[in-house]
Amino acid sequence: MTRRIRIFDTTLRDGEQAAGVNLNLHEKVQIAQRLDAMRVDVIEAGFPAASDGDMEAVRAVARIARHAAVAGLARTRENDILRAFEALKGALRPRIHVFIATSPIHMEHKLKLSPREVLEEIRRGVTLARSLVEDVEFSAEDASRSEIPFLKEAFSLAIQCGATTLNIPDTVGYAEPSEFGQFVHSVMEAVGAGDSVTWSVHCHDDLGLAVANSLAAVMAGANQVECTVNGLGERAGNASLEEVVMALRTRRDLFKAETGISTPLLYPTSRLVSRLTGIPVPPNKAIVGDNAFAHESGIHQHGVLSKRETYEIMDPRDVGAPSSSLILGKHSGSHAFRERLNEMGYNLSEEDFKAAFKLFKDLCDRKKTVTDQDIEAIVADRLVTLPETCVYELVNFSVQAASDMASATVTLKVQGEEHTDAAAGNGPVEAAYRAIDRITGLSPDLKEFRISAVSGSSDSLGEASVEISLEGRAALGRWASTDVIEAAIGAYVNALNRLSLLGVTSNG
Ligand code: KIV
Ligand code: ZN
Repeated sequence: MTRRIRIFDTTLRDGEQAAGVNLNLHEKVQIAQRLDAMRVDVIEAGFPAASDGDMEAVRAVARIARHAAVAGLARTRENDILRAFEALKGALRPRIHVFIATSPIHMEHKLKLSPREVLEEIRRGVTLARSLVEDVEFSAEDASRSEIPFLKEAFSLAIQCGATTLNIPDTVGYAEPSEFGQFVHSVMEAVGAGDSVTWSVHCHDDLGLAVANSLAAVMAGANQVECTVNGLGERAGNASLEEVVMALRTRRDLFKAETGISTPLLYPTSRLVSRLTGIPVPPNKAIVGDNAFAHESGIHQHGVLSKRETYEIMDPRDVGAPSSSLILGKHSGSHAFRERLNEMGYNLSEEDFKAAFKLFKDLCDRKKTVTDQDIEAIVADRLVTLPETCVYELVNFSVQAASDMASATVTLKVQGEEHTDAAAGNGPVEAAYRAIDRITGLSPDLKEFRISAVSGSSDSLGEASVEISLEGRAALGRWASTDVIEAAIGAYVNALNRLSLLGVTSNG
């Protein structure tokens, strides 16, 4: 018999806690739409009590999710739970996710509560959440370092107060697969709730074992896995959604379990999340890395050409990895372009589609063939930051460069009004950034600057990514263009816009 494993995606909550990640509302909605289309069972959209931004994000995702339940995280505090409920009001399937730590170290040093007091918090928190919504998840934070007799009490109480999903997190990524599987089994057995509840796990990747631990838990009987796209998350991240899903699917013989995920959306979703968060996917990343299906050695290539399964345990099409035969060019019309966008998982409004098609046509004038990566680069970079949320917009620029000196003139629209300034620098990019700083009145630190080719061809788009910081806030920016100077300037302006979303619009 095949068990159904629920996929609880926490990219927008735990994933967004990854260092340097700062998604705006529109970006979160784009990701949520994709997750919903990919048929995750639950989208954890944020922690409404943590900030107004999270509150708005959960509210917005609640309104757009058609299939998935939408979860809002809450501590056991009344205010947290009421905020989560408020944010989830528009959801078809609202879930309040209540958590409190249960390990001795967390209870004593972080919460400064006795085990009895923690149980009282669970009683109050879960009862309140359940009085507001039907679907309540309770997480025992740092469960893997908690004592089983205490977890038994905590989970049994949560069930008694109405929790329907019980989550066993390996919060600090300390567990080892065989031990964790045994641990999950022992907790489930001790609580003895049978099939009346859903058992979930939530593993962090500090020892690189998050996916292995999640799978060991599935083997032990867990039927919900909490994970994130690209394994994004706090510190070393969370279990990677695509790896968990494809391991379950590829080794169905072993796990005897399946998820409801539409796997051809795994690759496009990974790219979207990478682009919007600014966190690149390593080329050797399982399932979604650029090299995941690349066969370099002659022996392997020969084998794959004779029979794909000699060296491929998965069909790249099953994860939506791009096929080189799908190349668009200047003769492609809007119909072909729309089809391609749909296949890549983009579901744009008519207005955004028109803008994307114009960008595509402009690109075709500058580049012979347009690949999926090019489309992603132009569509995501240009359309994901809503115009009304952009403080700065690049109008035009010119640069002059000699071997040891450069100058640049840049025109930016700042809240709709055009400003032009010029500056000199050691190179054209530095000169342009200085001109921009003169216009904005900001002088952020440039922490990182990278230029790479979007695809392998000689007329490839150049993609710039920058990280800047000011007043202790950091922001990433990306931009792609056939002109690398334009890409570099676009990435800087993009990062400034993201910084402005964090409230940084002046030099302190
Ligand atoms: O890692 C963790 O324990 C969490 C909980 C809030 C589920 O993220
Ligand atoms: Zn976590």
